[in-house]
Parts: sequence; structure tokens; C-alpha cells
Amino acid sequence: METADIETDLSLFKYDNLEQLPPSYRELDEAERTERIEAALDELGDDVVILGHNYQRREIVEHADFIGDSYQLSKEAADADADYVIFGGVTFMAESADIITDDDQSVILPSMEASCPMAGMAEALQVDAAWAEITEAAPDSNIIPITYMNSYADLKAFCAEQGGLVCTSSNAHKAFEYGFEQGDKVLFLPDKHLGENTAHRLGMEDSIVEWDPWDPEGASAEEAAEADIILWDGYCQVHERFREHHIEDIREEHPDVNVVVHPECRREVVEAADVVGSTSTICQTVAEADPGDKWAIGTEIHLANHLSRWHPEVEVLPLCGDACMDCNAMRQIDPNYLTWVLEELVEGRERNVIEVAPGEKELARLALDRMLEI
Ligand code: 13P
Ligand code: SF4
Repeated sequence: METADIETDLSLFKYDNLEQLPPSYRELDEAERTERIEAALDELGDDVVILGHNYQRREIVEHADFIGDSYQLSKEAADADADYVIFGGVTFMAESADIITDDDQSVILPSMEASCPMAGMAEALQVDAAWAEITEAAPDSNIIPITYMNSYADLKAFCAEQGGLVCTSSNAHKAFEYGFEQGDKVLFLPDKHLGENTAHRLGMEDSIVEWDPWDPEGASAEEAAEADIILWDGYCQVHERFREHHIEDIREEHPDVNVVVHPECRREVVEAADVVGSTSTICQTVAEADPGDKWAIGTEIHLANHLSRWHPEVEVLPLCGDACMDCNAMRQIDPNYLTWVLEELVEGRERNVIEVAPGEKELARLALDRMLEI
């Protein structure tokens, strides 16, 4: 599958209460910063919990109470009693935390510029317009929209309204099964690669279509309506970078290497790998390896670096060497921002709070609850 040229723009922030880092926080060195973060955490005690996604920088995960994948972190957010949940992750993750935490808890995204470009590739308004086109082309079908966790709350709400749900990379196959129990077609958003990999896992690869309603060269709504699985044309730049030749090259150089990749990778990469799974599956795979084993990691570079530090007995190699990318959105969570939001909380001021609009929140919660039930 070729990648459509979808414009992504990291400056498309979802919230207008975004606050920039004050100049006095911009040049802190690591020793001073660590001391100040620890002092603020001592002061705040149980009022605060820090969640760190596996792709966060070392200086963030070192301060996290919980480190994990997006699904695990939403569960930690739901279980948290703290007044403040500080999310080391990207906007859609903080939104999900806000949706499932109590109304008197605040979710803080230290830098609100941390917007996942893939989530921005399926804006709810765009999907709404496209949905009208495709449902008109398939009047006798019951299409169930399923959105990957990597999407904004308004799209999750849209899916709930149309009888659909949310999924993560670890339960996408179950969400598809749910979709085909409830309806006869699935529209999967926004990640075409996770969608295609899931269709293969279920043996349904013969009836998929990739659909970009704005591409004059692409499939028409009528053609899309003939397929059982319609894939929205979104993708993650970090994971699309991996190619099959990277696996061939690393196997040639290290004949005893094993390869684990994320399901946001292209189909041919997933097919060639030894193991495929969410970031927590990747962590678990390396944690369970025998000393001396070699694992090549096909995902965001910070996670490969963490695994190498956390498991020095295992030889951890980035799948495409220096060409492996960090996630520009995750990188926005600078540890100086963490220092600032914590010190502001000590002073009784909440900065960069993510608050999903109430109506949207209720529906998005329904889409998340449906996921938790499958
Ligand atoms: P996980 O849910 O596997 O942590 O993945 C999130 C993500 O953004 C991958 O790019
Ligand atoms: Fe989004 Fe890709 Fe970054 Fe994950 S790695 S947050 S999908 S841009």
C-alpha cells in the first residue's frame, strides 16, 4: 500500500488553553530540574500521579508512577485516586484519561503541543462528511465505525453514536469481531496499517479497500461500499519508516536476531517479523528474553533505548539503526514542562488541563466502555 500525501500539522492544537513554558524554565540543567521535581512531588504527595507512555524521554519515565502502553495507562488513570493526573504522552491519551477519570480529577498534559499527527488525519468533521457519502453508496449495509485509540475524543464520540467503538493495537481483532457481530461492514480509522494487519489476522484480507474520500485517483464511495473492511487513509510516520529490507539487512548482519515490531508498521514488515504487538508486548518480549538473546525493535526509538537500559543482559538493536525515528509529538513533553506544571500545582495553579467537552465526553466514554467489554 502506498502512503497518501496527507497534510499533517503539529500546530493544529485541539485546545485553546495551551500555555507555553515560561522563559525561566527553559534552561534548567538536569540536576537542578530533578531536585525541583522531587521537591514538588514530596510537597504534592498522593495528590498527584504521573503516567508515562513507553515512548517518553528517559527524564520523564524516570519520574513516572506508571509506565505503559496507551491502554494500560488509561486503566491506571481510571484507577487513580489522585486529584491531578499528569500525562506524559500525547493529547489523545490525556483526553482518554479525562474521559474515564472522575469529574473532580484534573488531567494535565505538560505540553499541549504534544499532538499525534495520525490522530489529526481523521478529524471528526471530515469523517462525518465521508460517512454521509459512504452510507449513501451502501444504503442496505450496516457499517460499524471503529476508531483506534489514537484519535480525538470527538471521533470516539462519533463512533459511539453510529454503534461503533474504540480499540487499541492489542484488541483491534476483537473490535473487528464485535463490528461484524453488530453489522456487516467495518470502517476502521485512522490507521490503515493496523486495519490491514488486523484484517489479515482474521483471514479477511480479500475484502478490504483503502479509502481516501478526497483522492480523485482513489477508490470511489461505491467501490469502497463493496468491501467488507474500509480503511481510512491514515498512518504513523514513525512506523511507516520501517521496510522489509531493514529486517533482511539485520538478519544478514546478525543471523541469531529476533525481530519484534508494532502493528502500526506496514503489512510486509509485520509479516516478516517474529513477533508483533503493542508497546507493552514489545516490553514483555524483551523482559522475557534469555540473557544473551538479540532483539531488533521496530518501533519508536525512545522505547528501544529504554529497553536497552532496562535489560542490559539482552542485546537490543533498533531495527533500522540511526534511521529509527523518535515521535515528534511525544518529544514535546520536555522535562522542563514537567517541572513547571508540578511547581505551579504546589502554588495552587493548574496549567495545561485537558478537558473534553461534556456531551462529547459521555459518548466517547460509551465507545471506550464498549471496548472494555469486548
Ligand atoms: P501503544 O498503544 O502500543 O502504546 O501505541 C501507542 C502509539 O502511539 C503507537 O504509536
Ligand atoms: Fe502518533 Fe506515531 Fe507518535 Fe504513536 S508514534 S503517538 S501513532 S505519531
